[in-house]
Amino acid sequence: MSTHSIIIFASGRGSNAQAIIDYFKKNNEAKVSLIVSNKADAGVLSIAKEEGIPSLVINKETFSTDEFCDQLKEHNPSLIILAGFLWKVPANVIAAFPEKIINIHPALLPKYGGKGMYGHHVHNAVLHASETTSGITIHYVNEIYDAGSKILQAHCPVKADDDADSLAGRIHKLEHYFFPRTIAYLLQNIHSN
Ligand code: GRF
Repeated sequence: MSTHSIIIFASGRGSNAQAIIDYFKKNNEAKVSLIVSNKADAGVLSIAKEEGIPSLVINKETFSTDEFCDQLKEHNPSLIILAGFLWKVPANVIAAFPEKIINIHPALLPKYGGKGMYGHHVHNAVLHASETTSGITIHYVNEIYDAGSKILQAHCPVKADDDADSLAGRIHKLEHYFFPRTIAYLLQNIHSN
């Protein structure tokens, strides 16, 4: 079987993107063939440059065009990975890649999800509710924010003296371990061509 192509969408610093790139550098089952961002100054674009991975910056207009879908299709992705990507994926892109778009959310969905729930907004809500457990959810993407079917959840404690930064750090560790491995697991059941 040939190496899988995967595409990453990210809006931020890209530590998850880096973890995925590093993981697949070692096992060669997949290759990140494109990184897409909605922010021209996102850290993930520096990672793309350093790793020699092609990148694409989109805006709200280009995002939902057929041309954009065609650009993605040129890479023949087995999966499209949302790794800290803040925009809702348009319906035509979801329809073009059924069951191929997955997202990671830094909490245990269905709690603490939905529009506006990203980054520290999520962790602050978890702390505010005095939760003793949080975690990550990896799920398929559909047209409703954070509502696609779940693939994997992993838990971690919320400590009494946590703030959003310390909790985010613990969550990132879970993400960096489980996201690449979940992708590898899913790829085992997808045929690359
Ligand atoms: C992660 O915590 C992810 O769960 C959330 O956004 C964050 C992205 O972090 N959706 P990074 O850019 O990968 O460092």
